[in-house]
Amino acid sequence: DDAAGERLFNEIIARDSRIEPRDWMPADYRKSLTRQISQHAHSEIIGMQPEANWITRAPSLKRKAVLMAKVQDEAGHGLYLYSAAETLGTSRDRMTEDLIAGKARYSSIFNYPVLTWADIGAIGWLVDGAAICNQVPLCRASYGPYGRAMVRICKEESFHQRQGFEILLELANGTPEQRAMAQDAVDRWYAPSLMMFGPPDEESPNSQKSMEWNIKRFSNDELRSRFVGMMVEQIRVLGLELPDKDVRYNEETGRWEHGPLDWNEFREVLAGRGPCNAQRMERRREAHEEGAWVREAAAAYAAKQAAGRAT
Ligand code: 3HC
Repeated sequence: DDAAGERLFNEIIARDSRIEPRDWMPADYRKSLTRQISQHAHSEIIGMQPEANWITRAPSLKRKAVLMAKVQDEAGHGLYLYSAAETLGTSRDRMTEDLIAGKARYSSIFNYPVLTWADIGAIGWLVDGAAICNQVPLCRASYGPYGRAMVRICKEESFHQRQGFEILLELANGTPEQRAMAQDAVDRWYAPSLMMFGPPDEESPNSQKSMEWNIKRFSNDELRSRFVGMMVEQIRVLGLELPDKDVRYNEETGRWEHGPLDWNEFREVLAGRGPCNAQRMERRREAHEEGAWVREAAAAYAAKQAAGRAT
C-alpha cells in the first residue's frame, strides 16, 4: 500500500540508494524527474542543430569526421534519456509532441547562433564543459535509469569538451585573425554557458525538492561557481581571456565569483524570444515530419517480425 511504499521510498533516499522504475514513488518525484529528464533529452536533440549546421563547413576532413561523431553522440544521448524518462510512464511520442508543440523546455544555450568555426571550439569547451560540470553529480541521481544513462553520457561529453578545447588551442596559436576569432567566440559563449546552470538559487523553484530527493547534489550557483574555477585554469593554457573582470576566488566562502549575468536575457530566451528559438523549433518540426516514413516503416517491420514469431 501507499504508506508502506512511502516508508520504503524514504528509507531508500535516506540511505542514498536507488529508486528503480517498479518501486513506489511519490507522484511529485515522478513528475519532477519526468520534467528534468525530458528537458534534458530535448536539449540533446535540439543541440544537434547548431553544430550540424557546421559539418559541411568544417575546415578539414579530420575535423568533419570528429564533428559528425559528436553530433551523432548527441542523438544517442537524447535516446538514452528518452528511454530513461519512458520508464516513468510518459511515452517518447508524447514527449516529442510536447516539444514540437512548443510546450516543453530545452536548454537556453541552443538558442544562440553559431557564427564562425571558432564557435564550434567554444561550444565544445564551454558548453560541453558546463554540461559535464552539471552532469557528473547527476550520475549519482537517486533514480536508477537516469543515473546510469548519465555515466555513459558524461564519458562522451568529456571527449566533446577535449575536441572543443583543441580547436580553440589551435586557433589561439594560429594567425592573429584566427586568434581574434577564438577570443571573439569565447566572449560570446561565456555568459550564455554560465546561464546553462539555471537561475540563481533564490529563484530556482525546483532545487529544494530535487536536493531532498538526491536528484540534484549541488545548487545551480554552486555548480556555476565551480565551473568558473575550472575555466580560469584552462583559459590560461589557451592564452586567451575570460570576458569577465570580476572573476575571483573568495577565500571566505571558498567559492569562485563572477560578474553579473543578464537574467533578463535568460528569461527572454526561456520565453521563446532568444535569437534562434523560432528557427530551432521550425527545423525540429520539419525533421519530425520528414521522418514520418521512417517511423512508419520501422513500425511495419516490427509488426511483421512479431507476426512471424507468433506463427
Ligand atoms: N535553459 C532552459 N531552461 C532552464 C535552464 C536553462 N539553462 N535553467 C533552468 N531552466 C528552467 C527549469 O527547467 C525550470 O523550468 P520548469 O520548472 O518549467 O521545468 C525553471 O527554469 C526553473 O529552474 P530550476 O533551477 O528550478 O530548475 P531545475 O532544478 O530543474 O534546474 C537544471 C535546472 C540545472 C538545468 C536541471 O534541470 C538539470 O540539471 N538538468 C539536467 C541537465 C540538462 O538538462 N542539461 C541540458 C544542458 S545541455 C546538454 O546536456 C547537451 C550537451 O550536449 C551540451
